[in-house]
Amino acid sequence: MSRKGLFITFEGIDGSGKSTQARLLHEALVASGHDAILTREPGGSPGAEEIRSLVLEGDPDRWSAETEILLFTAARRDHLERVIEPALAAGKIVICDRFADSTRMYQGLSRGDLRGIVDQLHKLMIGREPDVTILIDMDPNLGLNRALSRKGTEERFEDFGADLQERMRAGFLDLAREFPDRFHVIDGARDMETVAADVRAVAEAQLAV
Ligand code: ADP
Ligand code: TYD
Repeated sequence: MSRKGLFITFEGIDGSGKSTQARLLHEALVASGHDAILTREPGGSPGAEEIRSLVLEGDPDRWSAETEILLFTAARRDHLERVIEPALAAGKIVICDRFADSTRMYQGLSRGDLRGIVDQLHKLMIGREPDVTILIDMDPNLGLNRALSRKGTEERFEDFGADLQERMRAGFLDLAREFPDRFHVIDGARDMETVAADVRAVAEAQLAV
């Protein structure tokens, strides 16, 4: 039913509810007859999922920020070539849990100012921005508690702690001001259904254009 491809990304700090909201939006769009796929980063294609375990497991200082930029961008390029671009070309809605804005934040801001390098590599190797980015915003303490309560093995970034999450939150809000055309900031510190209704409203407004 979708007339043209639409690329929607979810961004925000760890535990803010991105995966939950991406899944709920996907279910709602499919239920209303849209051809939509749900995917995630890092990962989303077999090769990128292999890179995902390299970057998310192990010691917090396993990789330098510069090496991480290369690894996340390599994963993204594979995901883009094999999953995102073909789906958009077929007119589907692509819902992606994190994308390049996460690299702008986590690798671009967490250990010195590497945003310029992130942007240069993005331009060279990715060259695409989402049509819509939903930023699920909330107090990092709430997000961290939620994220830690489902603790698994992919904790390199969560192990950086609350201070990093606070800087990431501020950085994401700055990004929303930098790209006001595609960013929509939604308060994630509410119950799932209330947040999901706001998310659906953003997607439906975009689909009506
Ligand atoms: P993220 O993908 O941003 O890390 P998740 O969607 O995995 O976040 O949510 C983190 C945890 O918080 C999960 O256990 C999830 O069930 C729970 N959660 C998600 N949204 C809410 C909400 N609105 N209220 C309470 N708990 C939530
Ligand atoms: P994700 O699985 O979305 O974790 P969460 O559900 O806790 O938000 O992402 C895992 C981690 O990867 C997260 O801490 C952020 C980090 N990350 C980067 O550092 N750079 C990136 O480009 C991406 C996509 C994720």
